[in-house]
Amino acid sequence: MSKIVVTGRIPEAAVEMLRAEHEVDAWSAAESIGRDELLSRVVGADALVTLLTERVDAELLDTAGPQLQVVANVAVGYDNLDVPACVERGVTATNTPGVLTEATADTTFALILMATRRTGEGERVIRSGQPWKWGMFYLLGTGLQGKTLGVVGMGAIGVATARRARAFGMNVIYQSLFELSPEVAAELGARRVELDELLATADVVSLHCPYGPETHHLIGAAQFAAMRETAYLVNTARGPIVDEAALVDALRDGQIAGAGLDVYEREPLVEPGLLELDNVALLPHLGSATIETRTAMATLAAANALAVLRGEHPPTPIQSW
Ligand code: DGY
Repeated sequence: MSKIVVTGRIPEAAVEMLRAEHEVDAWSAAESIGRDELLSRVVGADALVTLLTERVDAELLDTAGPQLQVVANVAVGYDNLDVPACVERGVTATNTPGVLTEATADTTFALILMATRRTGEGERVIRSGQPWKWGMFYLLGTGLQGKTLGVVGMGAIGVATARRARAFGMNVIYQSLFELSPEVAAELGARRVELDELLATADVVSLHCPYGPETHHLIGAAQFAAMRETAYLVNTARGPIVDEAALVDALRDGQIAGAGLDVYEREPLVEPGLLELDNVALLPHLGSATIETRTAMATLAAANALAVLRGEHPPTPIQSW
């Protein structure tokens, strides 16, 4: 029997899967585990099931010990993992692609609508008790039909967002390392462009690329200057892809019309300037937050950990071995 440490609360179905085969030490408090507590718990673990709130670095891996075989991250994004440090130590790292695609695309579209149709602002008016009444020019937003969605990073979530955009009558352009297959490109009517063209053309720029050194502050002052004054930025990927201070300036100075954010540069902190602006819709990292999706993410992570402990190939490894 191996020892599995689960570093945060995950759905019970996944914990039961792990318990059926191994000894499990699962953090069960609602708040995130502290670093010291985490370091003390991982000692002797054969597998870690981690959340995106936990940093898995060389210190943590070494503290766990040389018997550690797998780190199964319960997220598709894995910027919290030092993957090269895992590779160096022969530790398999896995993530949870696929299962959160539709939920995250839904959240992206919710933000697109909140920003363009000003529904967040409208809700704030009602809740604050401010007087209001229907008016021809009251809280006018921007329609999406015939407008262009620019997807930055055309992976599964980018494609799912583009499908929703097509249903709303939008055109799709994208910037990505990889070209879409001809079938999917035809289905979406999507054209691959350079980032400069995307920024200059799109009415809504939606970020779906992974976060890493190459995408740190991919969207900053120069990119906001390149966008249309009527355009919106939506980020459901990772906060530090956007220079948040530059975003505040762009929103305040009217360089862009608005934004919708689910993720933040220094999460869970939110740049104070953003809180003062009405033309930005703000969500607390809810991209994958449905019961079904979180259960699927956790059970996939559990399946990854169990496969490695059985000496099998995990369903969704981050790197191939
Ligand atoms: C992920 O899986 O990377 C998401 O950010 C979790 O919501």
